[in-house]
Amino acid sequence: MDVKKTVLITGANRGLGLGFVRYYLAKDWTVFACVRSEKKSLELRSLFNEYPNNLVIEPLDVSDANSIDAFSVKLKEYSILFDLVINNAGVFTEENLGDWKIATFENTFKVNTFGVALFSQVILPFINSSGKLVNISSGLGSIENIINPETGFEAYAMSKAALNMFTKRLASKSETKDIVVVALSPGWVQTDMGGKDAPLTIPEAIGKMGVVIEQLTSIHSGKFLSEEGDQLPW
Ligand SMILES: NC(=O)c1ccc[n+]([C@@H]2O[C@H](COP(=O)([O-])OP(=O)(O)OC[C@H]3O[C@@H](n4cnc5c(N)ncnc54)[C@H](OP(=O)(O)O)[C@@H]3O)[C@@H](O)[C@H]2O)c1
Repeated sequence: MDVKKTVLITGANRGLGLGFVRYYLAKDWTVFACVRSEKKSLELRSLFNEYPNNLVIEPLDVSDANSIDAFSVKLKEYSILFDLVINNAGVFTEENLGDWKIATFENTFKVNTFGVALFSQVILPFINSSGKLVNISSGLGSIENIINPETGFEAYAMSKAALNMFTKRLASKSETKDIVVVALSPGWVQTDMGGKDAPLTIPEAIGKMGVVIEQLTSIHSGKFLSEEGDQLPW
């Protein structure tokens, strides 16, 4: 008998997170969908009616240490090991030179960088010995490519560059020697964050990333990859 694969996705109630939920449910995986507010997750709740045995919806705010702690208690109760964890939750901020505020930088880093690091620390013991940890990064996090420097994307771009550093450092630790840890850029996608001018639809981006994730092996650990599976420059 085939054992069902398990995936945990953060920021799962809309955008790419919800796209990942749909993708893995369609593949008959057990999906843990983590959301800030279960009440507001109407689409997830209707998916739950369709997949009551495969979908678990859990509250998780990755910028809140208490919320991460509460989730870690539940993880022990579930006594489950994940084949795949996708650190997808993220916020995008735009503030031009001249308007920069400390709060914008703090809030952006709290979700996109610190939240990912602290949640990864908690989830790591619950990843299968041959599992995968995928940090959703961004092309804007590439220092070498320095995309659109005239925009006010500094806090976001810096938070993703720091997330890339975190990914590489985590992948280099003995605790992750058996799993694959990568930073994965989804491309520019039509979500609330990406806007409607983006070239990729959610199913297109998820389809591409799904293939990349499926093909990840130990040689990819610690790398920064595009949605096509190409290595991106740091
Ligand atoms: N769309 C693009 O073009 C693009 C490009 C490059 C990278 N990315 C990355 O892809 C990921 C998903 O982005 P998206 O386009 O799907 O964005 P989105 O439509 O804005 O969705 C963001 C998701 O993150 C959740 N979230 C925000 N703060 C959170 C927190 N503190 N704790 C838990 N969840 C939180 C949101 O929950 P709520 O609904 O509760 O706010 C929402 O579910 C992000 O990491 C983003 O940086 C996106």
